[in-house]
Amino acid sequence: MKIQENVPIAPYTTFRIGGPARFFCTVSSEDELVEAVRFAKEKSLRFIVLGGGSNVLFSDQGFSGLIIKNEIMGKTFTDDGTLYSVIDANAGEDWEEFVAETVEKDLFGIENLSSIPGKVGAAPVQNIGAYGAEVGNVIESLRVLDTKTMKFIDLSFVDCKFSYRDSIFKHEKGRYIVTKVRFRLCKQGDVNIEYKELGKYFIDKHISKPSLKEVRNAVIEIRKNKLPDWKVWRTAGSFFKNPIITGDKFAELKKIYPDLPGYTEPDGRIKVSLGWILDKVCDAKGLTIGNVSTYEKQALVLVAKPGATASEVVAFSNELMHRVKEKTGIEIEGEVDWAFV
Ligand code: EPU
Repeated sequence: MKIQENVPIAPYTTFRIGGPARFFCTVSSEDELVEAVRFAKEKSLRFIVLGGGSNVLFSDQGFSGLIIKNEIMGKTFTDDGTLYSVIDANAGEDWEEFVAETVEKDLFGIENLSSIPGKVGAAPVQNIGAYGAEVGNVIESLRVLDTKTMKFIDLSFVDCKFSYRDSIFKHEKGRYIVTKVRFRLCKQGDVNIEYKELGKYFIDKHISKPSLKEVRNAVIEIRKNKLPDWKVWRTAGSFFKNPIITGDKFAELKKIYPDLPGYTEPDGRIKVSLGWILDKVCDAKGLTIGNVSTYEKQALVLVAKPGATASEVVAFSNELMHRVKEKTGIEIEGEVDWAFV
């Protein structure tokens, strides 16, 4: 494993923004990962593990520690004779290729998570979710390096404390590094097309019982029509989380904005659509300040022009936070991770 110095981070992220990493390395095995973390510890450096770089914004000054690019590859599919298939996928595997392979093998559970950029190891960290599915629901366990003890351990689904775009990894930041994810996918499941837009897609096409492949293709098409292609645009997808507010607050807002979409969470609170608020309440769909805009078809997604800086993105997001607070009283939270010097 080679540790490089002063490596530009921008090309390793979908925002394509960020100065140099003081140290940078790529790891392709658990042994190399241990070696990299030891290097950082010996030098008292902070370290960040990078997957596909699709949910992170690095500072223009770069990062003064070590960036570890996780490229631990490999996956195995095991049929244990039950209704389920157990799949062990290493953290460096590409998420979208992985989803494609599971659908190809007629396995149900992650087809609604098609077309999401990033790596398998990052999926549980922010509990990726889309079109009514969340990855946490099909994860059985994870193998992680506990950097506090420098031992590899297994974390169960329960240990991970998954909730909306959240997991233990966001609270004990930097402590655990995911090396392998064990999924349990159903061999004879039902597709889930309850998400309004997905259901409507099939109603319009007069398809009442879509197949697994049809659902995957529908998600790909819907995303293509609505979200910017990260290979073309500089973006990290949704920049903020949808806020979760109390029922009273929701009722108060509904009086002013009767069409505000809201979905009841298991704890009774309401998750409201921030894209709708930015668009219909804050008039911010397609808003541009300098090199940064909200995407013309989805206001929750930020896009940056070549030459945009992290400071511009932060200033722009502050402006959106301010507008939302002023109009609704809601304090919004970032969905994208910020990694600043
Ligand atoms: N809406 C508007 N205007 C907009 C954007 C949205 O009116 O500019 C309305 C939509 O019409 C809809 C509602 O707001 O009624 C929700 O919009 P959408 O279905 O696009 O979903 P979202 O809540 O904005 C979330 C995820 C996306 C995921 C979609 C689909 C978060 C932070 N984002 O967006 O994930 O693809 O649902 O399930 O939860 C990502 O994380 O990067 C991401 C793209």
